[in-house]
Amino acid sequence: MPLVIAIDGPAASGKGTLAKRLATHYGLPHLDTGLLYRAVAFALIQSGLSLEDRAAAARAAETLDAGSLTDTRLRDRAMGEAASQISAVPEVRAALLAWQRRFAADPAGAVLDGRDIGTVVCPAASVKLFITASSLERARRRHRELAGRGEAASLEGILADIEARDARDSSRSAAPLRMADDAVRLDTTELDAAAAFDEARAIIERAR
Ligand code: C5P
Repeated sequence: MPLVIAIDGPAASGKGTLAKRLATHYGLPHLDTGLLYRAVAFALIQSGLSLEDRAAAARAAETLDAGSLTDTRLRDRAMGEAASQISAVPEVRAALLAWQRRFAADPAGAVLDGRDIGTVVCPAASVKLFITASSLERARRRHRELAGRGEAASLEGILADIEARDARDSSRSAAPLRMADDAVRLDTTELDAAAAFDEARAIIERAR
């Protein structure tokens, strides 16, 4: 049986780091699905189109080029905000859903992280984890990450961004951020990456 690990959670909860570690540990391909939404937003901005142009956003999602996912500019703070805006468009989500499902169908299995992996993309995943942390701790982590990349921003500004993004991602009608009924919640507020990995591995070993 392929091992499909679905990881969801809000911005900067530690799900990306955890997903990478789990993928390495189990020898599985990993998809950071937030990058797909960021790449669609980036393509629109690069073409000089408005993020509010829903038809253009849908076209950008339908023609998304996998090669564009490695662009480091996708990780910029502004791109997270832009991704959150276009991710509420149902046609964008539909186009990216097919993409994500193909990835998850790898015969070996896969690790996917995002907002709706356990609820929409991989409802039959072998294991579903829902990663949370307090908004202040998430803001601190994002602040450190951005500082490490040379992008200066105030902690207060990042906290406000994170809370606004949580609210938008949780309240949209198309595939909102929500914990699947059969997911296991892991709060990483007090855990470093190694401790979160150990907890997640124990959950996976129990579930498979
Ligand atoms: O995880 P990341 O911060 O890269 O995600 C950027 C935005 O993309 C999120 O705020 C969310 O709006 C959107 N997203 C989504 N569904 C996913 C992954 C990301 O709606 N599976």
